[in-house]
Amino acid sequence: MENELQSHRITASDDVEVSAYLEIARELHGDQPVVELKPPPGKRETIVLIDFGSQYSMLIARRVRECHVYCELVPYDTPWEKIASLNPRGFILSGGPASVYDSEAPLALSYIYESHLPVMGICYGMQAMVYQLGGEVASGAKHEYGHAILHVSSENCPLFAGLPPSLPVWMSHGDQIMQMPPGFKALAYTENSPFAIIGSDSGIFGLQFHPEVSHTPQGRAIFQNFLYRVCGCQGNWTSANFIAESVDKIREQVGDGRVVCALSGGVDSAVTATLVDPAIGNKLTCIFINNGLLRREEPERVLNVFKRNLKMDIVYVDATDRFLEQLKGVIDPEAKRQLIGNEFIEVFEEEAAKLGKVDFLAQGTLYPDVIESTSAQTKASAKIKSHHNVGGLPTRMKFTLIEPLRYLFKDEVREVGLALGLPEDMIWRQPFPGPGLAIRIIGEVTKDKLEILRAADWIVMNEIKKAKLYRQLWQSFAVLTDVKSVGVMGDYRTYGYLIAVRAINSEDAMTADWARLPYDLLARISDRIVNEVPNVNRVVYDITSKPPATIEWE
Ligand code: XMP
Repeated sequence: MENELQSHRITASDDVEVSAYLEIARELHGDQPVVELKPPPGKRETIVLIDFGSQYSMLIARRVRECHVYCELVPYDTPWEKIASLNPRGFILSGGPASVYDSEAPLALSYIYESHLPVMGICYGMQAMVYQLGGEVASGAKHEYGHAILHVSSENCPLFAGLPPSLPVWMSHGDQIMQMPPGFKALAYTENSPFAIIGSDSGIFGLQFHPEVSHTPQGRAIFQNFLYRVCGCQGNWTSANFIAESVDKIREQVGDGRVVCALSGGVDSAVTATLVDPAIGNKLTCIFINNGLLRREEPERVLNVFKRNLKMDIVYVDATDRFLEQLKGVIDPEAKRQLIGNEFIEVFEEEAAKLGKVDFLAQGTLYPDVIESTSAQTKASAKIKSHHNVGGLPTRMKFTLIEPLRYLFKDEVREVGLALGLPEDMIWRQPFPGPGLAIRIIGEVTKDKLEILRAADWIVMNEIKKAKLYRQLWQSFAVLTDVKSVGVMGDYRTYGYLIAVRAINSEDAMTADWARLPYDLLARISDRIVNEVPNVNRVVYDITSKPPATIEWE
């Protein structure tokens, strides 16, 4: 295992800068986690993404960060003082559902045009910009949704460097530009949009299409050109820089304080702990609660990595009996979630109290959670299920929060985790819900049913891994239904449980598509489950996407 861990560290990142940094760090620190040495970071450069409420805003931020430039999504009415503190190098104005002529239409604040920083307006962002700078926007004679071919009409526009003169793009707009503001030129057109890209000499651009979506295959090159050629960014947003910056911040925040962290076995809390522990001189205490609803070998694996390999201070609590006692006779999915969440808080509080005075709680909150809880789009959304993450720990507990991953996307968390030396199987673990197997057992949760589900789930995971599909699927798992059906085995009638297999593709769990797994893989999974798992005689495959179904069954 030691060697395995070591080799992960060497090959972990395809980012040359990070690897070089790790090499030096390893020489200096041997097996210690590599956060002590600082690469030369320079001040973090930020692209400020002004949010007009587009469903793609988060995607724009991800695309920018994939180019190694930090991007922060801010509400459109954010004051300049906050923007100035971010070291802005340019602005991107997002799309949005409004029309510029709506009475409540969000518009860019004047500092965006007065700062002399480059601006790229996308779709509604472009229309707002045109409207505000003296051009004319009107409802398009022909709405344009879907594929279009963009023809470049300007020879030396920096956005098109290295790109062919015609490229496929994705359009989705109703309103369109009728007249450009003074000082702007048309740089590209499509069949329906004479002003598909416009630009001024002062580095202000408008794009009528969406460069952030995968249907615009060269979108990334357009972003890169904007970031590097127009905004002059260096691309210093790397795992190594992030780690170095975070370590400084955590040290400064914590001082001599005491920190606890709840480990869940998932990647977010694992990376949080691995980042915080060495930053504060290995004084972090992790609390790992086994709620009895984990998958086969999961508790052992977590303890192995954190206790044996990373030598962290871990309080392990096997609270299986407490949780199962609470769940006795409970059938309602929401009731299960509530009970598990409350019991978790109780056990955590008890354990934290035993540690004496604790000042800080380290949590693996990620950027999508932050955006979701602040975004105007989700304010009105209905509650479908209550989620109990370790992230949702008790507000009544008097801890100050440390959330080092608060501005990271999942893929960035994974990169950081790899750079910190966490094993790949932990980094690439598919998401697993806080309430665990309880919401994959329909009806009452019992020890026997948990054993059945663990065995079936193990087979699904094993076969999916053997088929080399584990990483590309968002999630793949088994569900134990409360249906029993008749079967025949040998010469005997059986009356056994029905297992459902669920495998889905998704970018962010907000929507998901059921995975078209090969038939022979499904056949192997089914054969093995009915043959190897007692009391199961039938297997079905869930072919429902989200929406209308959710990913989990409860
Ligand atoms: P649904 O079932 O709502 O799930 O489509 C979306 C994603 O969230 C995960 N999930 C949870 N994660 N605590 C968690 O930490 C929860 O209570 C919870 N419920 C669902 C689910 O596995 C999927 O990835």
